[in-house]
Amino acid sequence: MNILLLGSGGREHALAWKIAQSPRVDTLIVAPGNAGTEGIALANGGLSANAGLSLGDFAAIGDFALTNAIDMVVVGPEQPLVDGIYDFFQADERLARIPVIGPSRAGAELEGSKDFAKGFMQRHGIPTAAHQTFNADTIEEGLAFLETLQPPYVLKADGLCAGKGVLIAPTLEEARTELREMLDGMFGQASARVVIEEFLSGIECSVFAITDGTHYALLPEAKDYKRIGEGDTGLNTGGMGSVSPVPFADAAWMRKVEERIVRPTVEGLAAEGISYKGFIFFGLINCGGEPKVIEYNCRMGDPETETVMLRLKSDIVELFEGVALGDLDTRAVEFDPRAAVCVMLVSGGYPGHYEKGKAIDMSRMQLGADSVVFHAGTKRDASGRLLTAGGRVIAVSSYGCDRDEALRRSFEAAAQIDFDGRYFRRDIGKDLE
Ligand code: AMP
Ligand code: GLY
Repeated sequence: MNILLLGSGGREHALAWKIAQSPRVDTLIVAPGNAGTEGIALANGGLSANAGLSLGDFAAIGDFALTNAIDMVVVGPEQPLVDGIYDFFQADERLARIPVIGPSRAGAELEGSKDFAKGFMQRHGIPTAAHQTFNADTIEEGLAFLETLQPPYVLKADGLCAGKGVLIAPTLEEARTELREMLDGMFGQASARVVIEEFLSGIECSVFAITDGTHYALLPEAKDYKRIGEGDTGLNTGGMGSVSPVPFADAAWMRKVEERIVRPTVEGLAAEGISYKGFIFFGLINCGGEPKVIEYNCRMGDPETETVMLRLKSDIVELFEGVALGDLDTRAVEFDPRAAVCVMLVSGGYPGHYEKGKAIDMSRMQLGADSVVFHAGTKRDASGRLLTAGGRVIAVSSYGCDRDEALRRSFEAAAQIDFDGRYFRRDIGKDLE
């Protein structure tokens, strides 16, 4: 089978690494990809390739799929899903036979609109923070609603903001100011509506399911580390590392997650007639032993995928085929019992201003058999030199008999990768001890 994987980050390199292990794959093309997604050894002896496609140009993606006899499109990031790539393929009779792994535009609203997600959870009795949604016409009601809540205050732009649309205000005064600024266009059209919700306190956990629209399978759970600074301080980032398994996500907790959250979500989508064939990412918080939903995403997490793929033992392409054919219930999903961790190397200055184009030196690195390097923001120049090309640059993922062993391996390899300004958090996973 010929697979086209869309995206260019660490998540996509990890997905490509996993897809490449499947004997069912004839060719794997990643678009636009990064320096790590080119030349991955396939189980059949071939090599993966990159293709320079723009993720916003569905017509070009469709033409590419036809010209290259693509049998399946796997979508990494949320934007093309929210923009309706699934529907675009469905609507074209030449493309409709090519399964797209990812939800329809309507399904992607779980991530694309916080207001839609909150309403969906309310309709299906899925536990989440109490909330109300306001716009410029109802700002007075919004200010009054804030008065009824306890600090801190959670304000969320309704639309996609590349992970930046959530503000947590410590005082009522700041919350009032931020509500005004958000409705006044702080995030453009994305904050034309603002969800105000109750603050939940607890440890977060990312749970992943893959669904064919009727059946679902749970994948290994993971915890990500969002802040730039050690001890979870400083600005929010795309994610500085991840670990799997998550100790508090034991069998009893995961049973609650499945019964109260995962199953009602999949059944709710079906009941509302929303086509959803892909990954569902449940951003959960553990409130005194009870799981609640903080957010949905319509794709895998980054950097969670860089540990989840290590712990997924089953052939992921078989699962994708199950999604396409609607027989996911007949496919085995096995987990690797070992721990997996990911440590993210980022550019100096990230998540604020940072420079790109720094030479990456991995010549000193002695990578053990239990570690794997996933590229995130990297590229090669004309002479083949590896350069930084983003804030998050390289993820070092490792297995271990336990988390500590895995962390030791990732930190050791991370220390041997050099580029000007290179930074990584040395406390990934330490809060779980
Ligand atoms: P989101 O984009 O919805 O995942 O929000 C980003 C981050 O804000 C989450 O990962 C949480 O750390 C935090 N957050 C969001 N909603 C809440 C809430 N209701 N209570 C506490 N923290 C929250
Ligand atoms: N790691 C969180 C996300 O991918 O949104």
